[in-house]
Amino acid sequence: MAFGYGIHQCLGQNLARAELEVALRGLLGRFPTLALAEPVTDLPVKPGGSVQGVHRLPVAW
Ligand code: HEM
Repeated sequence: MAFGYGIHQCLGQNLARAELEVALRGLLGRFPTLALAEPVTDLPVKPGGSVQGVHRLPVAW
């Protein structure tokens, strides 16, 4: 995760970190064996731009 830097550094970064902590703790508490279902190198990455991501994220638990 990146929140930028300088005068346009994300104003919501502390809220985003708090939300992520709650969400990830809840998700991993519910599914403690959650893991990628494919090697990370096989994940189809979206083409460049300022927002990065993958087209799909298959998981197993
Ligand atoms: C995981 C969640 C988030 C990520 C990864 C993220 C990422 C970023 C990044 C990279 C920038 C800088 C963009 C640039 O340089 O032009 C930015 C700016 C900003 N973000 Fe976030 N952000 C997140 C969540 C939030 C939340 C929850 C809020 C508000 C509730 C928020 C409000 C803003 C605002 C207002 C700016 C513009 C700051 C400025 O230009 O002065 N963001 N964010």
